[in-house]
Amino acid sequence: MKILVTYFTMSGNTEKIAKAIHDEVSKEHEADLKKIDKVSADTFKNYDLIFVGTPAHAGDLAGPVKEVMNSLPKSPKYKLAGFYTHMAPIWEDEVQSAVRGSFDKIIKQKEIKYLGTYNCMGNPDPNVAKMVKEARKMPDDEFNEYMEEAIKHPSPEDEQKAKKFAKEVLSKIK
Ligand SMILES: Cc1cc2nc3c(=O)[nH]c(=O)nc-3n(C[C@H](O)[C@H](O)[C@H](O)COP(=O)(O)O)c2cc1C
Repeated sequence: MKILVTYFTMSGNTEKIAKAIHDEVSKEHEADLKKIDKVSADTFKNYDLIFVGTPAHAGDLAGPVKEVMNSLPKSPKYKLAGFYTHMAPIWEDEVQSAVRGSFDKIIKQKEIKYLGTYNCMGNPDPNVAKMVKEARKMPDDEFNEYMEEAIKHPSPEDEQKAKKFAKEVLSKIK
């Protein structure tokens, strides 16, 4: 089986997860790892399975990922799985449903065979974290506690879980 792991990243969090998934799927398959700006709907045609990764951006897929996803044809032969990183544990439910919802909506529109979504926290860019602190009027101690945890992600455990997710996706195809 030919597999592509493609992703967008601004500060490396999603890339870490992309690499973990790529490491796992490479064990038994021919697998490529490519940034999303190096691929197009045409590239996808060369693969049996594509993992698409994105950071959460305003509760949605990042622009370049959405663009590629929206350009996919209806009912393609390949299968897809999604993964994303986000800064927020506190409003995680909201993030999960929003970003998962974005993947789900496109997948449904395009009638793509979809094998699941993985997500974990990522260490936020300090400027974005500061903006969120201000927007949410987070007290310093709450924010510091949040940051203490956030900087640990994606953690080695998150990477292990991503590998487990990749295995589960593969097992759905066999
Ligand atoms: C423009 C922008 C918007 C973001 N919006 C969200 C968001 O809505 N929810 C969230 O949890 N994190 C949000 N984040 C944080 C990122 O999703 C998070 O830090 C992610 O791990 C970054 O991944 P990357 O290092 O691969 O770019 C945002 C970051 C940026 C730069």
